[in-house]
Amino acid sequence: MPRQSRKTLVVLAHPRLSESRVNAALANGLHGAEGLTVNDLYARYPDFRVDVPREQRLLLDHDTVVLQFPIYWYSMPALLKEWMDAVLTRGWAYGPGSTALHGKTLRIAVSTGSVAEAYRPDGTHRHTMAEMLRPMEAWANPTGMTLAETLVVHGAGRGLDDDALALHAKRYREALTAG
Ligand SMILES: Cc1cc2nc3c(=O)[nH]c(=O)nc-3n(C[C@H](O)[C@H](O)[C@H](O)COP(=O)(O)O)c2cc1C
Repeated sequence: MPRQSRKTLVVLAHPRLSESRVNAALANGLHGAEGLTVNDLYARYPDFRVDVPREQRLLLDHDTVVLQFPIYWYSMPALLKEWMDAVLTRGWAYGPGSTALHGKTLRIAVSTGSVAEAYRPDGTHRHTMAEMLRPMEAWANPTGMTLAETLVVHGAGRGLDDDALALHAKRYREALTAG
């Protein structure tokens, strides 16, 4: 497929984006990127009533789907989970004869409050980030999607200075607009 025709959908889930430092910087860094749509779930569905046909149309219309969110209790913010439960239905996203998402690319992009060292067997959280993220990545399998490299920004709570954050935002834009 020619490079220009590839389209990327960023499903952004942050319950307080106006107070966000990391995810706001990552999302702001995407402004103006060709072929890229940012779908701000909390802005669109403050009442958690997800418009399933609209969301399925958006997914069909893009080649790559990026879920971007801050890690909340080793998981995703509640509205993103609701979005997944409502939108990724049997008979559409998975199950016999369901090919809506086949061949599309899935990427997870998250921020954590804790530093990377906390996500080690001898660290505060006792599990690696790869282990923590497995349930959030696994839906690529029944839907026939290809998992792209997961992006993690650690240390949002402390130690992440402005230069490091700007570099993360630059790399994020590059990753999402490459090929
Ligand atoms: C309810 C809640 C739960 C959180 N749980 C975790 C967690 O399990 N692990 C972690 O590293 N950080 C956790 N954090 C910290 C957030 O991940 C961190 O504040 C966020 O990634 C910063 O991104 P932002 O600047 O876009 O808000 C939690 C924060 C909140 C508010």
